[in-house]
This record gives sequence, C-alpha cells and structure tokens, in this order.
Amino acid sequence: MKVINVVGARPNFMKIAPIINEMKKHPEIEPLLVHTEQHYDENMSKLFFDDLGLPKPDIFLGVGSGSHAEQTAKVMLEFEKVLVRYKPNLTLVVGDVNSTIACALTSAKLNIPVAHVEAGLRSFDKTMPEEINRILTDAISDHLFVTEKSGEINLIKEGIPQSKIHFVGNVMIDTLLKHKEKANGSHILTKLHLDRGSKLNDTAKQEFVLVTLHRPSNVDNIDNFVMILEALNKIRERVRIVYPMHPRTRSNIIRLKLFERYPFLLNNHNGTNNDFIVTEPFGYLDFIKLISESVLVITDSGGIQEETTVLQVPCLTVRENTERPVTCEKGTNILVGMNTEKIIDEALKVLNGNKKIGQIPDYWDGFAAERIVQILLNEFLRKA
Ligand code: UD1
Repeated sequence: MKVINVVGARPNFMKIAPIINEMKKHPEIEPLLVHTEQHYDENMSKLFFDDLGLPKPDIFLGVGSGSHAEQTAKVMLEFEKVLVRYKPNLTLVVGDVNSTIACALTSAKLNIPVAHVEAGLRSFDKTMPEEINRILTDAISDHLFVTEKSGEINLIKEGIPQSKIHFVGNVMIDTLLKHKEKANGSHILTKLHLDRGSKLNDTAKQEFVLVTLHRPSNVDNIDNFVMILEALNKIRERVRIVYPMHPRTRSNIIRLKLFERYPFLLNNHNGTNNDFIVTEPFGYLDFIKLISESVLVITDSGGIQEETTVLQVPCLTVRENTERPVTCEKGTNILVGMNTEKIIDEALKVLNGNKKIGQIPDYWDGFAAERIVQILLNEFLRKA
C-alpha cells in the first residue's frame, strides 16, 4: 500500500509525524512524504522536522507564498506530477491549509483515494480561507478521520455517508503527549530570562502570558488588530507578555506602521527584561514548554486551542467562532472575539485566579494515529 502523506504549513508537521511513525511499523505500507513548502522559513518548517524527528521529505514541491489562487494552483501543478510518477494507492492530507485542499483535489481528479485527517471541523464562517478548504476537502475525501464528535455531526449533515467517517481522536495530541517530557527540558525560559533563577526576573514578574496572532481577520485588518493590541497594552501593565510573531504579522506591523503607536512591538527579539517580549516563531519543543509554563495563552490559532486544553492552561481565543467547540465545552478555551474590554476582562479573571481547568476530550489519548493506520490497512486488505 503506497501512501503519499502531505505536509505544507507549520500546523501540518505535528499532525503527520505520528502517522508516518505508525505507518513505518507496518511492512505492508510504503509511506512517502511530500512537502509542498507552503511554509519554507527555517523556523516555520525545518525546526519542526528536527524537533519531531520527522524523516526528510521524499519530495519537495518548492511552492512558497502567493495569493490563495496562486499558491493552491502551484501546489496542484506540482503535486499532479508526483501522483503520475509514483501512482500511490492513497493520498493522506491533514488539517485545513491551502496545501490540504490542493493535494486532495489533485488526487480526487486522478481517482486516487483521499484520506483527510481532522475532517468535519466547521466554524460556519466562510470568510475564513480554512473553512472553504475544510468543506471542499471533506466533500471529495474517501476516509474522513474526525477529532471530536461535532466533526461527525457536521459531516453527516453535509450528506457524507457514515461508513466513510471515523472518530479516532487527535493526532496533534498524540504528538503533544509523546513530546511533553522532552519539551519540559527545553531551555527557552532561560533564553528569555523568564526562569525563576534569572537575575532579570523580579518576583512580581515571574508569570507571563503567551500570545500568538496570525489570522488575516485579526492582523490584516487594522481596526481589529488595534482592538487586540489595545487589550495587550493594558494586560502588560499587570503581567509580562511573550509574543512569538508570525511572519505575516510582522510584515503587517511594518506595512501599517503600527510600531509608531505601539513601540513595544518592535523593541526586542531575544528577550530582555521587558514587559513585552517579541520574538521570532519558536520550534515545537520550545513552544510547548512556553504554553505549559504560561499563566494564560491568548491566541487565534486552531491547534493551540487544543494544546492548551490538554495542558490545562487557560486559553482566550481572539475569534468570534471556533471550529473546535469541544475545547470550549470541555477544555480550557473561552472565545473572546476582538472586543478590547472582553479580552481584558477575561484575562484579568484568569490572572486573579479564576481559571477554567476543564477535562480532556474523548480519545485525545495518544493513540489516534494507531487507529487511523489500522482502519486504512483493514480497508486496503479488504479490497485487495
Ligand atoms: C497558513 C494557513 C493557516 C495556518 C497558518 C499557520 C492557509 C490558507 N492558511 O497561514 O491555516 O493556521 O498557515 O502558520 O493555508 N511567510 C514567510 N515564511 C514562511 C511562510 C510564510 O515569510 O515560511 C509569510 C509570507 O509573507 C506569506 C505569509 O507569511 O505570504 C502568509 O503565509 P501563508 O502560508 O500564505 O499563510 P499563513 O498566514 O501562514
């Protein structure tokens, strides 16, 4: 069974790692890894391969950045050549990025079955590029692996036959549980002068809030971005903020000249004794260590809502909706929208000790990849 596994952007790497590992345990499976290079920077891509022990991709597509149409089309053109050359029995895609839909669509057109891991998640907000990618990928996939019950319900409402849907748990959490201990050994706190022994760190400022923001609706739109920055500006009066910055956010800050109004946004990179530490994006292990040690996470990421739930760290999601409702129903996540006051209020509640602890969602137990590979193998052997 020849399987082409696709990665393209940062959130894909931690999802594919446990699947490839699991496939390698089965001699009947020949897994290949294709990297579209939607993300290509050292700290958006290579660091993750190193941290996660991912094998070097067998094929790189060299696609890079561009408009949505450009990026998606480039992936399709390059991926079609790969499919024609390798003739796999299956293409496996994860998540909801442009590389996901591009490779799923190319495969479906060549009648190569598609497995979608993390299927069925819906924000019901079609202004999000990821929502379009999710709906379309699911519509043409043959095996749909869901992380939470809402995914199954959404797919059934969209007319996907139950026989194609499998509630298997969360591969991202497989990776988290596997690497948690290793991440604990990361020296990132020392590097940022956040460890308790650091001379720079006075007792009052040992706590920190971890912030990540990269959604176009938050950082490309100046009004929304300013509302969030106003909240952060207030929160930093109370507690130190650590903000690893996505390249799209950094270029917006420069383009919109936001550093004139918020000079702290550009004032440091590697961590000094500041209230507001801006850094380059971190690798996986450093980032997990930072989540674990933070008093609160403020984010607009999808995956971080899940990681904070499992690490039982309070999370405020700066969005009006989430495609991962279980993180609010069971986990530590609270949706705060882009409202300055709401963000400040909820952050202060947490800082004053009013924390949501939550529970771990069903099947987020470290065995999702094992379930997925077993189902794919059974299906393949049944048909052989
Ligand atoms: C993509 C995904 C998003 C995911 C996010 C994680 C889509 C539609 N969006 O958004 O779902 O949450 O990745 O990061 O696929 N850039 C670099 N270096 C890189 C990669 C990007 O400088 O290695 C810059 C480029 O200027 C690029 C911009 O970031 O134009 C945006 O990158 P892109 O892949 O288009 O989207 P993301 O915002 O990263």
